[in-house]
Amino acid sequence: MQYRKMGRTGLMVSELCLGTMQFGWTADETVSWSIMDAFVEAGGNFIDTADIYTNWAGDASYGGKSEEIIGRWVNDRKCRADVVLATKVRGSMWKGPNGEGLSRAHIMRACDDSLRRLNTDYIDLYQCHWADLNTPIEETLTALNDLVSAGKVLYLGASNYPAWRLMEALWTSDRYGLARFECYQPEYSLMERAGFEIEAMPLCKHHQLGVIPYSPLAGGFLTGKYQRAGEKPSSVRAEGILGKYGNDSGYGVIEILSSLAQDAGKTVAQTALAWMLSNPVITAPIVGANTVEQLKDVLPATGYRLGADEMKCLNEATRYVRNWRPIWD
Ligand SMILES: NC(=O)c1ccc[n+]([C@@H]2O[C@H](COP(=O)([O-])OP(=O)(O)OC[C@H]3O[C@@H](n4cnc5c(N)ncnc54)[C@H](OP(=O)(O)O)[C@@H]3O)[C@@H](O)[C@H]2O)c1
Repeated sequence: MQYRKMGRTGLMVSELCLGTMQFGWTADETVSWSIMDAFVEAGGNFIDTADIYTNWAGDASYGGKSEEIIGRWVNDRKCRADVVLATKVRGSMWKGPNGEGLSRAHIMRACDDSLRRLNTDYIDLYQCHWADLNTPIEETLTALNDLVSAGKVLYLGASNYPAWRLMEALWTSDRYGLARFECYQPEYSLMERAGFEIEAMPLCKHHQLGVIPYSPLAGGFLTGKYQRAGEKPSSVRAEGILGKYGNDSGYGVIEILSSLAQDAGKTVAQTALAWMLSNPVITAPIVGANTVEQLKDVLPATGYRLGADEMKCLNEATRYVRNWRPIWD
């Protein structure tokens, strides 16, 4: 495993981050523990979750389940000091008007709840899951700064923020001397480039934010198991993934990845991750796995980088606006 600094901070994280949205949903607790064991055994130290995982998956499911699984595992393996735990706040966690959002009232209670579920007295990276435009940014950042001062949180991050709101947050931290967002978590993959690349990527580069993209394999599409003439893979996400990417241009990307992967003796998934890891703006893609086998299939992406010709070939195949090029590049 290789390690990278998270943005301008001194925090070293593995260049693959383990996503845990699947825990307690499509991976039961025993499998989730095996996945975390395999990840740490391979040198991984960076684990991402959220308080709302997984509150959308039927009756047996509830927000906080993934954090609880991680908390029990960390306690059993006595490995708290060896892992960088990232979680998120913003979504609906309890009934009532303050059960969600980024108000001081919600953040303070939600953070204590996450600490309890994770079996820890500090969170390494506490992220706002998505923006809350009904709460003044000063209120959110002051509350988060107080958590940092209290030692409950070490670093702050933002996910899914539009670039203008992220920039507003950086200005606000600067103006009032508050802890700032040091890391950004966007959706980003070969299939979803524009949403991050056009505005937020140059912002992150210029202001030295760490970048930890989610869904780097486009939910499984970029593993190569979705084939032009193949059967629908057995995945709860297959329907949605096929609806978005199961078209001529999507399969064209898979075919290019397959050919590059074959030349390099790698897999399609590893090559899709190598495209991302070859971009110096990126800190660590967050990979999700339902089985240890899936995780082991993607781990060899660490240290794998693409050359200029391979990058060009993939960038051309996934170009989103013809001849578009940022004028500041
Ligand atoms: N901030 C946010 O709003 C946000 C949103 C979404 C996710 N996230 C974070 O990002 C993490 C990753 O997201 P994601 O699950 O969408 O990422 P992803 O890496 O794009 O997709 C992971 C899925 O691909 C399939 N897969 C992975 N490796 C495979 C392999 N080797 N062979 C075949 N199939 C494979 C599995 O799904 P199947 O087995 O079902 O095919 C797996 O669950 C989450 O766990 C979560 O921590 C954050």
